[in-house]
Amino acid sequence: MNLTLRVWRQPGPDAAGQFETHSTKVSDDASFLEMLDLVNEELIEANKEPITFDHDCREGICGTCGVVINGQAHGPQKSTATCQLHMRQFNDGDTITIEPWRAGGFPIIRDLMVNRAAFDRIVEAGGYVNVNTGAPPDANEIPIPKDAADSAMDAAACIGCGACVAACPNSAANLFTAAKMQHLNQLPQGQAERWSRSINMVNTMEEYFGSCTNHGECQEACPKEISVDFIAMMNRDYMKANLVNRRRLGERKIG
Ligand code: FES
Repeated sequence: MNLTLRVWRQPGPDAAGQFETHSTKVSDDASFLEMLDLVNEELIEANKEPITFDHDCREGICGTCGVVINGQAHGPQKSTATCQLHMRQFNDGDTITIEPWRAGGFPIIRDLMVNRAAFDRIVEAGGYVNVNTGAPPDANEIPIPKDAADSAMDAAACIGCGACVAACPNSAANLFTAAKMQHLNQLPQGQAERWSRSINMVNTMEEYFGSCTNHGECQEACPKEISVDFIAMMNRDYMKANLVNRRRLGERKIG
């Protein structure tokens, strides 16, 4: 298939960017990233700078491959990361516009690559269990209700790609933060730090990202189908955490 690509090129974080047009011919069996590889080979042969884009696993696991394709985070196929998208989703003769995630919390490094370190700051604020887990425990040592285990697993499916932020009109990171928080807050192992985790992660999120106004675009763009239900759960835990912590600090009497 013959394609025209409009690709965002930006030499550095502070440099001005612009769209560059490339024509290419690719098999419809190729993946989207293989198509970009091919374009880069052509650019290198022509002694031009290849397009910088992020990727690692190419299996929908690591979350690094995010780009906006024709205005949609990860492109037109639902529940699919860019690396799992195939060119058969497009038609011969199409013009495809490819842009980086655009959000204040994700500064552009170069071309299509953005810095998502703000996500690391949110996870560092509480997205872990602070206990020495020692050797792997026997299976089922801690009884967990099946519905809680299933829901925690659904939240843990987040690959941290940032599509939720890129798709949100407010550049909010509530879906990511809620997923990283609720996969722990629902399990017995996550209870000891539940309230401090809820406050620290939300406060850190708000340092970098906009506010959620319930557009739901994050859920639509998420390649792992993380539900906005987790945002509601996060909001409840944040509210409860503020009460619990006031009691702990002696600002409010228990009971
Ligand atoms: S490259 Fe790892 S999820 Fe796409």
